[in-house]
Amino acid sequence: MDTAPTPPATARTFSSLLVTGGAGFIGSHVIRRLLRTQPEARVVNLDALTYAGNLANLKDVEGNERYTFAKGDIRDADLLQRLFSEHEFDAVIHLAAESHVDRSITNPLAFLETNILGTATLLNVAKHAWTERGCMDRVLFYHVSTDEVYGSLGDEGLFTETTPYDPRSPYSASKASSDHVVRAYHHTYGMPIVISNCSNNYGSHQFPEKLIPLMIRNIVDQRPLPIYGAGINVRDWLWVEDHAAAIDTVLQNGWVGDTYNIGGLNEWRNIDLVHKLIELVDAKLGRPEGHSKALITFVTDRAGHDLRYAIDATHLETRLGWKPSVTFEEGLANTVDWYLDNKAWMDEVTSGDYQQYYDQHYANRG
Ligand SMILES: NC(=O)c1ccc[n+]([C@@H]2O[C@H](COP(=O)([O-])OP(=O)(O)OC[C@H]3O[C@@H](n4cnc5c(N)ncnc54)[C@H](O)[C@@H]3O)[C@@H](O)[C@H]2O)c1
Repeated sequence: MDTAPTPPATARTFSSLLVTGGAGFIGSHVIRRLLRTQPEARVVNLDALTYAGNLANLKDVEGNERYTFAKGDIRDADLLQRLFSEHEFDAVIHLAAESHVDRSITNPLAFLETNILGTATLLNVAKHAWTERGCMDRVLFYHVSTDEVYGSLGDEGLFTETTPYDPRSPYSASKASSDHVVRAYHHTYGMPIVISNCSNNYGSHQFPEKLIPLMIRNIVDQRPLPIYGAGINVRDWLWVEDHAAAIDTVLQNGWVGDTYNIGGLNEWRNIDLVHKLIELVDAKLGRPEGHSKALITFVTDRAGHDLRYAIDATHLETRLGWKPSVTFEEGLANTVDWYLDNKAWMDEVTSGDYQQYYDQHYANRG
């Protein structure tokens, strides 16, 4: 089968979209955006509501008549079949995943089950449903993935779409496997797919086990700021709204069978980023400059900690014309403001299982 990437004749519009993992951090931003940019589309959000999924992330769209929430697991083929036959989806935007590297180190099987088997189950149901409807030429399966599949960089260089896969954590290995399965469905069965691999996201509604919201929360509460190793690991940070815009761009105009790296050309060492957050949060709270620096606590490094990630997003920029819309200063200021203004959200999402996990993994380290 000739599976070289092919452009769509015109920008795609949809009538029925399935978004998986829409109650999570990125998924909630994607749903909000698609309800705006696909005005004819009904959007079904399938989410298992794990500790990371929270309907509080989508309160503002609950009343939208084009939006439906379905609680369920992407590994549940019967449920998926029912949803496909009821809603006749013409695209799937697949974000549901176990997403936190630290948790993948303590519980790798959960990651392999959701991220690999869950993706394969979803693909298989989509293939059957779309084959039966005879609509394979008019649909799209969009798999949202991570730059971590490429492994770890030294001081130089950037990940491109042709960088060989070299995942090193159970999380990145599970995402790499799911990318391969998605491509296999394209090459073997002619399933129209696109994949994007994005760098680290930051912004509102991110569960506070991830670096930026964890640090903001702890600076506010004056708790220790745990930093792995010497804090020299480098990440390329992208504002979540810019990732959602990139996903929307790829959904509308991405070439079938193509892969797009998404990143902000915005590299920060963890330690420098934490200093920046201390500066911003302390200033917002009227504390003296440097007030929270003493909270920095270096902790034993993460097992197999990748040193550096950095994305070359030229392909997405030149082929589809996407660019980040904000500077890091703008995005970070917006993010800090959001967490300071939404303490009730933070209390709600951290009130359950997470508190126990936090106490074991973060609170008393150092
Ligand atoms: N956060 C990042 O920086 C980043 C960067 C690049 C790519 N990604 C990818 O983007 C996607 C979303 O990431 P995120 O940060 O929003 O994650 P998240 O952990 O905030 O959200 C994941 C969502 O998936 C749901 N989910 C988990 N297991 C499920 C299952 N078995 N069935 C149905 N739903 C399930 C959770 O309830 C949650 O709502 C993931 O695929 C991740 O690999 C994330």
